[in-house]
Amino acid sequence: MLLARPLELESVIDSDVVAIGFTKSESGEFAFPNFSAMVSRVEAKFEINLMDELAFFSATGKAGEVFEIPVSAADLKTERLIFVGLGKQSITDFRNAGAALGRKMKGTSKSLYSLVASSRTDIRAHAIALVLGTYQWNQKSGTKQVEVPTFFVADTYPQEVQRAALMAKQVWFTRDLIHTPSNIKNPAWIAEQSKSMAKKNDLAIKILAGKELDGFGGLLAVGNSSPIPGPRFIEVTYAPKGSKAWPHVVLVGKGITFDTGGVSLKRPYDNMIGMKSDMAGAAAVLSVVSAMPEIKPRVRVTALLMCAENSLSSTAQRPSDVIKQYGGTTVEVINTDAEGRLVLADGLAYADRRLNPDYLVDIATLTGAATTSLSRNYAAMFTRDVALAKTLSLLGEKSGDRVWHMPLLDDYKGALTSEIADFNHTANGAHFSAGSVTAALFLEHFAGERKWVHLDIAGPARSESDAGENPKGGTGFGVRLLIDWIAGL
Ligand code: BES
Ligand code: MN
Ligand code: ZN
Repeated sequence: MLLARPLELESVIDSDVVAIGFTKSESGEFAFPNFSAMVSRVEAKFEINLMDELAFFSATGKAGEVFEIPVSAADLKTERLIFVGLGKQSITDFRNAGAALGRKMKGTSKSLYSLVASSRTDIRAHAIALVLGTYQWNQKSGTKQVEVPTFFVADTYPQEVQRAALMAKQVWFTRDLIHTPSNIKNPAWIAEQSKSMAKKNDLAIKILAGKELDGFGGLLAVGNSSPIPGPRFIEVTYAPKGSKAWPHVVLVGKGITFDTGGVSLKRPYDNMIGMKSDMAGAAAVLSVVSAMPEIKPRVRVTALLMCAENSLSSTAQRPSDVIKQYGGTTVEVINTDAEGRLVLADGLAYADRRLNPDYLVDIATLTGAATTSLSRNYAAMFTRDVALAKTLSLLGEKSGDRVWHMPLLDDYKGALTSEIADFNHTANGAHFSAGSVTAALFLEHFAGERKWVHLDIAGPARSESDAGENPKGGTGFGVRLLIDWIAGL
């Protein structure tokens, strides 16, 4: 929980923990750059010398470095002060400081007042990180309800705090969906989650299953590998009364609930372990659209969740099958492990033909190649719209969901030709070695003439370690970026 509280000594010391941000200059001097007056009052109240304490700890000032000191004063609630390093006070430093404090409080029901970030943008980044640092998910038997701490930040910009709380909640929800194991979250389960989310937020929802999916050749080819319950097409819409003339953003998310690779089975098998997170794109777009009623942008938003399991069975598609995507384009399937682009192609074509989007954005854990080129720290962003790419890059740095503009290589024309169908769905030659690029070029065909952005989040959607803002596993990547972008349109 995250709340704005008056910047007054009584409320600061009415929490279990008080966090104090500090810096260290090149010449080795410590400072409490934000809230210095309040820090002095806290210092006086507990009759300690904070500079001496920092010197005692040999603090370096690195962002996220933490030191704790127990304190006590008669009749006061506060039991601990925590120093947190602020590095060079970049927005990332405030984010790292938040995550480090969150981790200190994780699993407790204690309260912390943060005297760390004071500017509008820093507060937002810091406060979101406080909450996300406490994230936990497990299904251990016998554990009680997960305890959650309460964070207080100064009420100088109450709307920022409210926005931060919403952002953290949406990222949290996304992570919960991604962490849920695939024996629970089949496509029907995701449809149920979407339904209750839509109901709670007063959004319109349409779910297609079985016969109703006629025409969605990509979704069917992949999803019929696991015919019970089979694939789902989920459309969630934010379009309040009087919004007809507003711009329309359509978000398409890859919702593969587990990716075995299909007949082209993933090898080595260990590569399969993380594949319950192959629906991270779908989880993100559901979270984003669900936040709209609170954000109230003058933009219509539609989220399309393309949900299917990519399984290995007698009803699975085969390498060499030819399928018909939504809209009629035929595709020769070469490698059944390149299933993401098949389900996304249906979603993009549906959006182009039926929804008249002003912006068409897809988000998907699409290629291992995206991770090879950019690591887990950046998503690969493909678009022909240079101005939009700039906007998203900047918002990415600010929100923490960082994206890198990648080329839709025209030199790769010919990579996707097939002798027997309109397209071959994976590159037909070793010289087309940039796998995230060929995937993007395939998708581009289905976006028609729309203003289109493709985000390949195979890297950042999942964290391999429990560190900073991220737990091991699903991160909720993309939620902050897309909400910020839509809110600013
Ligand atoms: N879901 C995977 C991509 C992936 C890999 C996501 C690692 C997260 C971590 C996707 O469906 C896939 O299998 N892609 C193939 C494409 C190839 C067969 C052309 C890949 O990247 O190897
Ligand atoms: Mn795959
Ligand atoms: Zn996949």
